[in-house]
Amino acid sequence: MNSGTNFPTAASSPNGAALRQESITLATREHDVMLRAQGLHKTFRLHAQGGTAIPALDGVDLCVRHGECVALVGPSGAGKSTLLRCLYGNYLVGEGRIEIRHDDGHTQRWVDLSTATAREVLSVRRTTLGYVSQFLRVIPRVSTLDIVAEPLRRLGYGDGDAAGRARDLLARLNIPERLWALAPATFSGGEQQRINIARGLIAAAPVLLLDEPTASLDAQNRAVVAQLIGEARAAGSAIVGIFHDEATRDEVASRTLAMRPVLRPAH
Ligand SMILES: Nc1ncnc2c1ncn2[C@@H]1O[C@H](COP(=O)(O)OP(=O)(O)OP(=O)(O)O)[C@@H](O)[C@H]1O
Ligand SMILES: [Mg+2]
Repeated sequence: MNSGTNFPTAASSPNGAALRQESITLATREHDVMLRAQGLHKTFRLHAQGGTAIPALDGVDLCVRHGECVALVGPSGAGKSTLLRCLYGNYLVGEGRIEIRHDDGHTQRWVDLSTATAREVLSVRRTTLGYVSQFLRVIPRVSTLDIVAEPLRRLGYGDGDAAGRARDLLARLNIPERLWALAPATFSGGEQQRINIARGLIAAAPVLLLDEPTASLDAQNRAVVAQLIGEARAAGSAIVGIFHDEATRDEVASRTLAMRPVLRPAH
């Protein structure tokens, strides 16, 4: 799919300069768009429970530009986590499109995650789309330093550069140096979460999804994470996140997307 804009062009309009200017502005802003989701519907079917249908998303639209951070806000059950998982390609949507501006190192193109092959989804995740879940997936016997440095190594950075940046992040996130050579299986919940954040932010993915990255952190570490998110925005990342802590949300988000539980029955 190409990146051709769907916006109307002024060239064919009889309305002159004003429309032309508006169209130029829209086209310029279109250039900044990294993620656009339109008309997303998602219904879960519980096959083991008589095929009960649970509607979770009912016509969600979202557009995120370079350097923006959109916070998903709404009560429990509003579909925030479901939306984030759809945006990562973990859940397929029933209707709608999820388009990501993907640069695989050779070409730049729009990829629609709602129709992409598994191979395309993996390619998007390798270079364009990052996800910081709430919990660290511990890999047995791999050291904390290697877990954090790995995404940079995968992108082709040398061992020295990747380890240097990993050390810097671990120090900023107050992980004691004596833990860096150990596998984090035995670490506390907050330590594991900070390692997860360091790993998730080290490569500054162009599109970044954050699922409650500060949930088990104390105030001091929350502030560091908020700073790191600000730095990712300044570096151009387009971010969508769930932040239950309001102060953190106010600090890191440029705007919010209000979500509500779907009340009507699934169609
Ligand atoms: N894997 C699943 N299978 C079936 N139903 C699900 C599944 N995941 C979520 N749901 C349902 O979809 C709806 C939205 O859930 P979701 O977890 O996205 O809400 P949320 O906004 O993240 O809530 P919270 O703030 O409590 O985390 C809920 O009704 C939930 O029961
Ligand atoms: Mg949730």
